[in-house]
Amino acid sequence: MTFIGKAIHIGVDLALATTCLAGIKRNTGLSFKLDAVENETAREYTKKYLNMGDSMYDYAVATCGSSKYFERK
Ligand SMILES: *[C@@H]1O[C@H](CO)[C@@H](O)[C@H](O)[C@H]1NC(C)=O
Repeated sequence: MTFIGKAIHIGVDLALATTCLAGIKRNTGLSFKLDAVENETAREYTKKYLNMGDSMYDYAVATCGSSKYFERK
């Protein structure tokens, strides 16, 4: 695989992982413990990464909510 292909693959995986974490947080209240990240810089980035997942989760919910292929039960 090319380098670009690999980079995209890793990016998609990371995006799915953070969206999944956001979903777990919404459904169970369990969220990643930021205090566990020792390095302040790394913690800032982790926070941004998790917020990104939150936005994508919201976006996915909004998209599904307005789609005729989904219904609320
Ligand atoms: C955190 O890690 C980064 C990159 O490894 C480093 O440059 C920085 O000095 C570290 N910050 C702290 C507060 O340890």
